[in-house]
Amino acid sequence: MAPRCWRWWPWSSWTRTRLPPSRSIQNFGQHFSTQEQTPQICVVGSGPAGFYTAQHLLKHHSRAHVDIYEKQLVPFGLVRFGVAPDHPEVKNVINTFTQTARSDRCAFYGNVEVGRDVTVQELRDAYHAVVLSYGAEDHQALDIPGEELPGVFSARAFVGWYNGLPENRELAPDLSCDTAVILGQGNVALDVARILLTPPDHLEKTDITEAALGALRQSRVKTVWIVGRRGPLQVAFTIKELREMIQLPGTRPMLDPVDFLGLQDRIKEAARPRKRLMELLLRTATEKPGVEEAARRASASRAWGLRFFRSPQQVLPSPDGWRVAGIRLAVTRLEGIGEATRAVPTGDVEDLPCGLVLSSVGYKSRPIDPSVPFDPKLGVIPNMEGRVVDVPGLYCSGWVKRGPTGVITTTMTDSFLTGQILLQDLRAGHLPSGPRPGSVAIKALLDSRGVWPVSFSDWEKLDAEEVSRGQALGKPREKLLDPQEMLQLLGH
Ligand SMILES: Cc1cc2nc3c(=O)[nH]c(=O)nc-3n(C[C@H](O)[C@H](O)[C@H](O)COP(=O)(O)OP(=O)(O)OC[C@H]3O[C@@H](n4cnc5c(N)ncnc54)[C@H](O)[C@@H]3O)c2cc1C
Ligand SMILES: NC(=O)c1ccc[n+]([C@@H]2O[C@H](COP(=O)([O-])OP(=O)(O)OC[C@H]3O[C@@H](n4cnc5c(N)ncnc54)[C@H](OP(=O)(O)O)[C@@H]3O)[C@@H](O)[C@H]2O)c1
Repeated sequence: MAPRCWRWWPWSSWTRTRLPPSRSIQNFGQHFSTQEQTPQICVVGSGPAGFYTAQHLLKHHSRAHVDIYEKQLVPFGLVRFGVAPDHPEVKNVINTFTQTARSDRCAFYGNVEVGRDVTVQELRDAYHAVVLSYGAEDHQALDIPGEELPGVFSARAFVGWYNGLPENRELAPDLSCDTAVILGQGNVALDVARILLTPPDHLEKTDITEAALGALRQSRVKTVWIVGRRGPLQVAFTIKELREMIQLPGTRPMLDPVDFLGLQDRIKEAARPRKRLMELLLRTATEKPGVEEAARRASASRAWGLRFFRSPQQVLPSPDGWRVAGIRLAVTRLEGIGEATRAVPTGDVEDLPCGLVLSSVGYKSRPIDPSVPFDPKLGVIPNMEGRVVDVPGLYCSGWVKRGPTGVITTTMTDSFLTGQILLQDLRAGHLPSGPRPGSVAIKALLDSRGVWPVSFSDWEKLDAEEVSRGQALGKPREKLLDPQEMLQLLGH
């Protein structure tokens, strides 16, 4: 029987890759299986997907060499620029990634944007296999009037701002208003709400940027509404993050018991994690708090609330038209059952006054290069188990493979699977034979284009600088925000 991948990598696409026609596929396989050659593989993106794919390849092939290309000057993707500063334990995965990067069979090239500084075809010519692990860098637009008004930000940009993403360092959100509205009820929405409402002195010992901390110290935001177009049963956040909100010092929850009517019976059949999440929501919304908790809530100066069955319809401008003054929400009801439950407008609307709107309705991948297939509707690279459809030797992992959901462990499992499939193809002889130049060819190209790649030891110098600046402030690190300054520190 023909090997599995032939079903979706047709002959036409193999010929496009200019493999020598005289050699049989089995011969390629035998060639590689003798392990005389070093498979040259590159990974695009140094977030969890990139690093876990690299880790799998290095662990399960004793000669494979893996180069990681990253557009930022610094590694680790959303672990550095997404994960909330008050969740330092999540960032411990960096230790594992660092071990991978220090392997003598792995190299990191930061400051290289694939699709701009080097094309995917150039990488495919230089390597036996290329893995695209470049994540989901855009935000999902709301596509409603007023979205462009000052005072409306994507949660992605806001998260980037407090986490030191260079492109968001100038964001300067105006936090002088009383009420903020967050659209979407996922974990990113709760991260953003928590950062807005946490007493700033609780953030002082985290790696939040000093600029963001300064703005949060001045913030006058007292109320945060987290708005969902569907109901409590459909929230996308998880229990740990909800518990953190409920216990947030100096804040009280605002949940309307009416939203939870009849829910007790409906959650009996739910899977255990959702059932526990719903029970916590129900208790918080409907049970009278104990004396201590009631006193805590009574003395709270800030509040957060979940507003259900409301879909964003229009961002309302201030009278002078210069900034956001509120949001018009379409009241919704649910149609369909189970996974297919969707929100449909009832025709009623509600206006919610606010001075800040943060849209947290999901991230979105971009196409990287015209030579790579891309499904704009799903926002993913079409693939089967990580093999890019119709492009032999090209693979994908992480959010760009399966869409912008899932935590780091989901991304790990998915990336190991891509690594496994790639090695399977390598051993079966489905990848080009003969030596490939790998980074030697790419470095020459980059040099000719005036691009200066940043190595992992360069990153370790920047890391040491950040840690030292952080020490002076009693923080784990103070992130460097300016790429020019980073390059100068590296002597460029
Ligand atoms: C705000 C936020 C908070 C989160 N918090 C948690 C948490 O607490 N716990 C948890 O388990 N999960 C969390 N997650 C989920 C987790 O971050 C993802 O599962 C994971 O980061 C996805 O990994 P990835 O490698 O696919 O994407 P990313 O982490 O986005 O990595 C992609 C990398 O590719 C690089 N890149 C992009 N384009 C190019 C290009 N053209 N050339 C070269 N490089 C490129 C990017 O710079 C980036 O470094 C969070 C997600 C978000 C958005
Ligand atoms: N602490 C953590 O572990 C942590 C922290 C942050 C992120 N993450 C993970 O990262 C992933 C991404 O998180 P996320 O919060 O960006 O995405 P998400 O979990 O997919 O949540 C997106 C939210 O936006 C809503 N939404 C989508 N389109 C909308 C629209 N057009 N109008 C109104 N609402 C809309 C969704 O509602 P519907 O359900 O109705 O579509 C949902 O409530 C998730 O897997 C998350 O768990 C984890």
